[in-house]
Amino acid sequence: MSRSIRLGALASGGGSNVQSIIDQIESRRLDAQIAILLSDNRGAGVLKRAERHGIPREVIEPSAFETRAAHDQAMMDALRRHDVELVILAGYMRIISPEFVQAFPNRIMNIHPALLPAFPGVHVQQKAAAYGVRFSGCTVHFVDEGMDTGPIILQAVVPVLPGDTGETLGARILKQEHRIYPEAIRLYSEGRVRVVGRHVVISDHRIEGDQVLINPPLGETEAS
Ligand code: GAR
Repeated sequence: MSRSIRLGALASGGGSNVQSIIDQIESRRLDAQIAILLSDNRGAGVLKRAERHGIPREVIEPSAFETRAAHDQAMMDALRRHDVELVILAGYMRIISPEFVQAFPNRIMNIHPALLPAFPGVHVQQKAAAYGVRFSGCTVHFVDEGMDTGPIILQAVVPVLPGDTGETLGARILKQEHRIYPEAIRLYSEGRVRVVGRHVVISDHRIEGDQVLINPPLGETEAS
């Protein structure tokens, strides 16, 4: 049974992922509301998007605080003031403190532009292209106290193409981010997501074990 879940979105940049969530909410494919958008960056494009859609927003800049913990405390206070159930990190480029994670246990999601546990950290689209992997993708996971280490909810895989750069690969990945982040929130809002140790169990979900991707495709491998 779906219920209108109150989201708190944290974003530092352009906010295309926040936009994909707004679009799904407005088209009624996702029963949720963004109760508050918080940014650590007053120049972030995501603030304009929120304004256009009438979403409450607040800038909480780290420079106004002596410590990371104090900044995080201000973020947590704002989330609580707005009665947020699920925290959504969407291009939020700061590591959150253990106290923050503990305040919202298995209630903070993050989207990461690589197939975790490969390529944690930053600039990962460039790193994947430079490494020579044949596939990359994106991951929605719960946030734990490590960096990009929490239980994985959903992943999408994209091929890496000859000549890909961080930009071209990143654009391919971003399209899939916009699909899987709203889906992860939908699954959560429908009460279908349960964390068991490192595993996220999703009820009523099935995938065929023979759905395989091979890159380059069999029989088309060029002689090297
Ligand atoms: C997205 O690619 C997201 O996965 C990434 O930042 C971008 C934000 O784009 N997040 C991280 O790298 C977190 N470590 P957006 O502002 O257009 O949603």
